[in-house]
Amino acid sequence: MEISGRTKVCALIGDPVEHSLSPAMHNAAFKHLDLDYVYLAFKVRREELRDAVNGVKALKIHGLNVTKPLKVEITTLLDRLDESALNIGAVNTVLRAGDKLIGYNTDCIGALEALREAGVNLEGMKAVILGAGGAARAVAFAVAPKVRELVILNRTVTKAESLSRDLKRRLGVDVRFGGLSEVEKEEELKDADLLINATSVGMKPNENLSPVNPNLLKPDLTVFDLVYNPVETKLLKDAKKVGAKVVDGLSMLLFQGAAAFSIWTDRDPPLKVMREALKSALEERVSG
Ligand SMILES: NC(=O)c1ccc[n+]([C@@H]2O[C@H](COP(=O)([O-])OP(=O)(O)OC[C@H]3O[C@@H](n4cnc5c(N)ncnc54)[C@H](OP(=O)(O)O)[C@@H]3O)[C@@H](O)[C@H]2O)c1
Repeated sequence: MEISGRTKVCALIGDPVEHSLSPAMHNAAFKHLDLDYVYLAFKVRREELRDAVNGVKALKIHGLNVTKPLKVEITTLLDRLDESALNIGAVNTVLRAGDKLIGYNTDCIGALEALREAGVNLEGMKAVILGAGGAARAVAFAVAPKVRELVILNRTVTKAESLSRDLKRRLGVDVRFGGLSEVEKEEELKDADLLINATSVGMKPNENLSPVNPNLLKPDLTVFDLVYNPVETKLLKDAKKVGAKVVDGLSMLLFQGAAAFSIWTDRDPPLKVMREALKSALEERVSG
């Protein structure tokens, strides 16, 4: 990639950012389409966010991805939020349009695209989401208007309650909520069609853990695990064993990135190239 005075800069901000897979995915896509863009990563702590946002404006940085712990706080520092960011209350993508910064949340579309690619038709389904953190909020807003019934179970019940309240207020959808006890999981999974793990349980270095006892899984269940490190989590392995359909977190990571790519470039994302770049960056991270 030839860097020049005209090169447009996109960047990830957050803390930590060192192990992010996004630079590999986006730079591969820019290169493939021969776009004069570059993607960097800047470590920005919470207390540095206001300065960083002013810096984005002053340096005319073209676009941002935003990760922990800045996704919620940055919503108050931007000029405008699109509907998904307003609903979710968090921003993961920013576009600079002149002197204005516009915030988006592409996790919502990322989740829907991952399910669509896997051939999952949400209509008429009962979905159970485990978790009520940032990722769970995005997925809940994505699936709530489409499914027949939605239940949110979270270790901290008050967070599930507050997400359920926001879904009612913003989308007018009734969503039940509860805790993450074995009894609650068993009761809700009995007649569920779709199980979504949006907790961090099963993520490295705890890859031997699963948020769900394998006895609760069944062949007619679709299991979507947002955790992508490892790609095949214990939950997905258990689900495959009983013959359930599985959707991994890497596809959501790809599609949320693809949506951000389109926002910055107005071009169709080269999905195949981006998926390959993600896979090799992940492999490198494992071996490195
Ligand atoms: N595939 C993708 O594109 C994508 C995108 C975003 C996130 N993710 C993944 O999704 C996961 C959650 O991310 P996030 O941003 O939502 O994080 P977060 O906001 O910190 O939320 C973490 C969630 O996990 C729950 N949790 C954590 N440890 C737990 C445990 N030991 N037992 C039960 N529940 C536990 C938390 O429950 P409490 O509320 O009780 O603490 C909370 O619901 C991560 O693995 C992340 O990598 C994937």
